[in-house]
Amino acid sequence: MRKIKLILADHNERSRNTIKELIELDDSMDIVAEAVNGAEVIDQIKNMDPQVVIMDLNLPEIDGLETTRYITLHYPRVSVIIISLNDEIDSIKRAMLAGAREYLVKPVSPLEIHRAVRQVAELGSKLPAGNPENDQPRKQVGSAHQIISIFGTKGGVGKSVICTNLAVTAAREYRSRVGLVDLDIQFGDISIMLNLNPRKTLAELAQEIDEPKVDLLEQYLYERNGVQILAAPNKPELAELVTPMHVKNVLALSRQVFDYTFVDTPSFIDDTTLVALESSDLILLVITLELPAIKNIKKGIEILRSLQLLDRARLVLNRSTGVAGIEPEDVERVLGLRIRAEVPSDGKLVVNSINQGIPFVKMSPRAPISRGILSVMKAVDEG
Ligand SMILES: Nc1ncnc2c1ncn2[C@@H]1O[C@H](COP(=O)(O)OP(=O)(O)OP(=O)(O)O)[C@@H](O)[C@H]1O
Ligand SMILES: [Mg+2]
Repeated sequence: MRKIKLILADHNERSRNTIKELIELDDSMDIVAEAVNGAEVIDQIKNMDPQVVIMDLNLPEIDGLETTRYITLHYPRVSVIIISLNDEIDSIKRAMLAGAREYLVKPVSPLEIHRAVRQVAELGSKLPAGNPENDQPRKQVGSAHQIISIFGTKGGVGKSVICTNLAVTAAREYRSRVGLVDLDIQFGDISIMLNLNPRKTLAELAQEIDEPKVDLLEQYLYERNGVQILAAPNKPELAELVTPMHVKNVLALSRQVFDYTFVDTPSFIDDTTLVALESSDLILLVITLELPAIKNIKKGIEILRSLQLLDRARLVLNRSTGVAGIEPEDVERVLGLRIRAEVPSDGKLVVNSINQGIPFVKMSPRAPISRGILSVMKAVDEG
């Protein structure tokens, strides 16, 4: 039987030895290297190709969280188990957000650590196997840490529906760290769509300090279906607390933390939307096959062109089925842009999903509309 290869990282020799003794009780596990700081951990991963890293949260210099983030990003098949004296939910949440697969509170029992190692090793082995290239995050090439805004110049075309389901799809299909920022700061719908009742929103975050750090941002995130959500203010009048500078800073942080950050926007371009569009790698322009929507999007395209953002825009056709009259080809011709992905109509499923606060990609992953969302995700990855 092949042993599970482990790296043990703890700067305190005594506590390293304690863990070592526990691990040695199980001969299906093998500590192949030890490390006393984050840099050593990374070096040893390169040298030893371990399946599991057991790491104390309080490493000197680059701490356990930062090291975990790096491992998650660059070596996704290596599973991290964090060990800490700290049993606060916040600390556990931060470690999980950084990509740790298990969090054990000291003192750890032999049973507990053996079970954790076995479980996370098995999880890691199920990820795509193979060569060092596969040890990169699946979608890293050309698309790492992307910001994707969902935009449209007409209300009700389906921006928020697409944004929510796209984020959940990215989290599930790519096992990526996904953020969702609701920048429809007056009338944000994301919380309702994801059954969230947030106390902390962009408005409260904006009141804290102008330049938040990762730790602070993380306190404002709510998790639903694998997606970390930064909610829009709870009341329209609080929207004015959120300035373009806040948005810029928040998105810069999100880019650091998440593989994909999806940004829902309102139907008009104000200062905050503009900053979001400028911060985005891709702008998904959502259209429907209705004359007013197409007329409006033409204006939107002109605005993006004048801001020199048009090369980031990708056309997404929503409710592509069930409309007679205007053909997608006509739209492409009029707008001078190719439609990159289509999401069919499914009124019943969408309404059901919104009313229950469960994304339809989760309720009915095989439904044509869910496959449509997958095609949007593919378009995102094609860049
Ligand atoms: N593919 C679809 N099939 C059926 N119904 C849809 C589809 N996409 C959106 N809808 C319907 O359209 C409504 C509006 O969608 P959504 O709230 O996502 O639009 P929006 O562009 O975000 O609007 P706003 O500009 O007001 O924020 C949804 O409540 C849903 O009922
Ligand atoms: Mg919306």
